[in-house]
Amino acid sequence: MIVTIDGPAGAGKSSLARDLARKLGFRFLNTGAMYRAVVLAALERQVPWDDQLQLEQLVDQLQLEFRDETVLIDGRDVTDPIRSPEVSAAIHFVADNARIRRRLIQWQREWAACGDVVTEGRDQGTDAFPDADCKIFLIASPEVRAERRWRQLRQQQPDLTLEQVLADQQLRDQRDIDRPCGGLREPKGSFRVSTDEMSLAEAVDHVARIVLEIQARTAHEA
Ligand code: DC
Repeated sequence: MIVTIDGPAGAGKSSLARDLARKLGFRFLNTGAMYRAVVLAALERQVPWDDQLQLEQLVDQLQLEFRDETVLIDGRDVTDPIRSPEVSAAIHFVADNARIRRRLIQWQREWAACGDVVTEGRDQGTDAFPDADCKIFLIASPEVRAERRWRQLRQQQPDLTLEQVLADQQLRDQRDIDRPCGGLREPKGSFRVSTDEMSLAEAVDHVARIVLEIQARTAHEA
């Protein structure tokens, strides 16, 4: 069974997808981490962003592994470096590249081919797995998302204001929607779940119930 979780940044996709996968005993794929890993590898190997051939060769040769929340490139743990500001700032070079996206989607499909998976990102229910058994579109209001992020960041950045986080988030949202490929859209036939009024545990329970109902219905129809 394939469960896709899409939605804007800050809606809680990664935590929900990870906990949902644990609860259901499914494997979990964080596709944002894939994009980040490709960017990190390109930066480290100094591949120019306009050298399409070298970028494609890099993606073809890269050994990416996902073990729960740990990300490995060619056996090296890159879980922290892929979250650096340098990687975030360069993401669009990879996320806006249609040929690279096609390769990554192919990789995602191969990864999902054996067994039950929860996969999260921006294009999972639309482009990667349009026929997924269960598609979730996870949302939260801009104010709630910004406040969550502000609470996370203010330890390291005490001068950061909620207004700054909100403005930055608006830019990121627009960029995610306007991508030339794989832009954020609500998948057809998806369940829209708002996490505004839910804790993480409540959201996981809510989505797990949806998945289990679909599983039971499919088993009944078979
Ligand atoms: O979920 P995240 O913020 O770690 O994702 C990193 C970036 O990758 C984000 O800016 C959007 C992009 N992305 C994408 O274009 N398609 C995906 N399936 C997942 C992430």
